[in-house]
Amino acid sequence: MDYWITGNCNPVILAKLSQRGFAAGVKVWDAGAVTHPSYQISYDVAAVPVPRLMELFASTWWAAGRTETQTRAILAGSDVVVTVVRRQSTPLAGFARVLTDRTYLAVVLDVIVAADVRGVGIGAMVMDAVLAHPWVAGVHSVELVCQPELTGFYERWGFTQRVGRSRLMRRTADASLAGE
Ligand SMILES: CC(C)(COP(=O)(O)OP(=O)(O)OC[C@H]1O[C@@H](n2cnc3c(N)ncnc32)[C@H](O)[C@@H]1OP(=O)(O)O)[C@@H](O)C(=O)NCCC(=O)NCCS
Repeated sequence: MDYWITGNCNPVILAKLSQRGFAAGVKVWDAGAVTHPSYQISYDVAAVPVPRLMELFASTWWAAGRTETQTRAILAGSDVVVTVVRRQSTPLAGFARVLTDRTYLAVVLDVIVAADVRGVGIGAMVMDAVLAHPWVAGVHSVELVCQPELTGFYERWGFTQRVGRSRLMRRTADASLAGE
């Protein structure tokens, strides 16, 4: 079998993964990886190529200044890490991470696809894998913060700007997160 995915995840997410060519019903979370003929999708934090991840961070407006020490701390402090590696070329094509209490709330952070491979479905693979993980699929709420131009991307997975009377409040030392 070329590619595997757990049978534990949300049926809706499982159906989407199935459309993308994943086969259901084989539990491989303990192995830390879901494989695909062209891409390796991994949950193994130890396998994250830190220098390449720093390159991806450097390409973004919010994570450009992260040092290697900070990057390693971020990885160590995340509950779920997703990487997508294109077998033939790009060492790390896609990345995301999640903080989750595994019950009520999961927060998706740092969703990034390498600039030269955007628009070919890697971001969707990253999000499918994030939401399929049992520590995310079963929680009551999954939240993220994004720029206005990306709301359409996340709406594909059911994220909405309808948050009732909730307001995002932030206490930050990062000026780029505090401006207009
Ligand atoms: C946002 C990002 C992760 C998307 O990754 P990607 O690999 O280019 O996206 P995909 O190719 O998987 O796109 C999946 C689908 O979403 C659509 N999509 C992509 N970006 C979109 C956007 N901004 N708005 C609406 N739809 C979008 C695609 O058209 C595609 O649709 P299709 O399945 O009908 O073809 C990528 O552009 C990126 O890394 N941007 C810079 C970092 C960033 O801003 N990250 C978000 C932090 S909140």
